[in-house]
Parts: sequence; structure tokens; C-alpha cells
Amino acid sequence: MNAVVATVPALANDLLVGSEWGPEQVRGLFQLAADIKARPEHYRSALVGRFLAMIFEKPSLRTRVTFEVGIASMGGGAVFLDHTQARLGERESVHDVAKNLERWVQGIVARVFEHTVLEELAENSSIPVINALSDRCHPCQALADFFTLEERFGGLRGLKFAYIGDGNNVCHSLLTVGARLGVHVRVATPAGYEPDPAVVSEARRNARENRGKIEILRSPEEAVTGAQAVYTDVWASMGQENEAAEREAIFARYHVNRRLFGQADANAVFMHCLPAHRASEVAAEVIDSPQSIVFDQSENRLHVQKAILLTLLS
Ligand code: CP
Ligand code: NVA
Repeated sequence: MNAVVATVPALANDLLVGSEWGPEQVRGLFQLAADIKARPEHYRSALVGRFLAMIFEKPSLRTRVTFEVGIASMGGGAVFLDHTQARLGERESVHDVAKNLERWVQGIVARVFEHTVLEELAENSSIPVINALSDRCHPCQALADFFTLEERFGGLRGLKFAYIGDGNNVCHSLLTVGARLGVHVRVATPAGYEPDPAVVSEARRNARENRGKIEILRSPEEAVTGAQAVYTDVWASMGQENEAAEREAIFARYHVNRRLFGQADANAVFMHCLPAHRASEVAAEVIDSPQSIVFDQSENRLHVQKAILLTLLS
């Protein structure tokens, strides 16, 4: 096996929320991800003989491909378990699934409707469980996003970051991870669609310790003013399709178009976890502009998740 040069301080066994990892650990993870990105050949054999079970209750392009390519590019393998038709726990209990999987594979990546299912998998298996998106959060996404911003701006402390739209799973993870990295996170949502107050107060505590700042606002204009990064996500997440029409009306003011984006810093970047809906949450003139870094975010899912796999599985 080639030497793995960059190392990360010992981390919690699972990545369920992102709050398991402190600022130093996240910074170590980013160093490892940068090394993997710069010299992927050095990690070619780093996970030989290691296997992942990938349980997906919802569709995926980025998360599935980046985990499968990520582990294969380090010598390991992934087994995809399609649960988009039947929820996990229907054929046999989550407990029994966990107890079986730990006998065969070295880690579980799971995308689930209910976050508690991830907790149940983690409680009942000795192998790492990685959250590939739940109703509550999307930590792999936020880690890749802040890695992308660090590449772009050279540092994150005090960076003005605006999230516009639904206070959803992605928003929660951006708050959780951003607070630990000292980012100034402003979130603007319609009334009734704010991020969970428990996530916000945990983020505020961490922001205070790391010289960051968290602001929860109503006005998208106020949130983007002077921002160096403007981020949005879909208005109706997977599983909320029946609310889509109602949400289109409620969120109309949160549409990121050239007028709104123009109030950010002149060198601001536009970000989106994807998939995106042009004409709903973002205008084509913004997401397809040179200031958009959405495909850098997608690329970095691969490098950051390879670092996560190396940290938890090797
Ligand atoms: N951003 C993201 O997680 O994309 P997928 O739903 O395609 O995995
Ligand atoms: N909030 C979105 C993110 C997709 C990556 C959803 O949950 O569908």
C-alpha cells in the first residue's frame, strides 16, 4: 500500500450529523482531501479489501457516483442496495440489517427518509455509518462545500456566506459545519420554513467558540448584501413533492436571480448542492454564469468523501 501522507486526528466512528467532528478534525479532513485531490495515485491501494454497503431510500446522482468511484479508486468496493421502492426495515428490521452488514462490509453509507434510521443502524453495528442525506442533514455535502470555499478564498474564518430559501437538511449542515469553521452564516427563509431552532442554537454556540456568526433572517436582500458566497437549494426536497406547488408561491421572493445575486460582493460565488431547478430557486443567468461554482462543489464531493472513507475505514 502506498503511504498515506496526510492524516486526520482520531474521529468519531460515524458521520451522522457533522457535529461529531470538531474544527481541528474538519481542518485535518480538508488537508487530507486536498492531498487526495492533488495526488490520487498515492491512495490507489489505500482501501484494498474494504467494502461499503450503500443503502439508498431516495434517488441520487452525485452521492452515489462519488462514493462508488471514491472507494473503487482506492482499491475497495461498494454494494448498492436499492431501497427506493421499499423502505429500509420493511423486509426485515433495521436492527437485523445492521447485524448482517457488519459481518460482511467495513462501512455503511445510507440515504434515508428518517434520520432515526441512521441512528438505529449506527447503534446496532460496530462499523462506521455515514449519512448520505437524511430528512435532518447532509453532512458530506456541507463538508465538500466548505472545502470548495476554502480552495477558492484561501480561508474560511469570517467568510460571509448567505443561504437563501428552505431551512432544510442542507441548510442545517451548512450551519453545523460553517459554525465550526468560523464562517459568518446568514440564512434567509420564508416564515415557517426556518431551520430547526435546536440546530441554530448549537451552531450559535459553536460560532461563538470559533469566532463565526449565525444570523437567521427573513429578507433575502439583507442576507446577500456583501456576501462572498450565495447558496440555495430546492424549495421542495425529496419526499415533499406534494407541497411543490404551494412552496413555489411561498418561496417566490427567494428566487436567486441576477438582481438578488448582484447585491452580493462583486466577486461572490454562487453555490447549489444540486439537483437544481432553473426558474424556481435559481435563474439560469446565475447558475450558468462564470461566478457559479456548482460543478466544483460536485467534483469535491469525490475528494472529500474519499478523505472521509480513509478516515473512518482504514
Ligand atoms: N447533492 C446531492 O447530494 O446530490 P444527489 O442527490 O444527486 O446525490
Ligand atoms: N434538500 C434536498 C437536497 C438534495 C441533495 C433534498 O433533500 O432533496
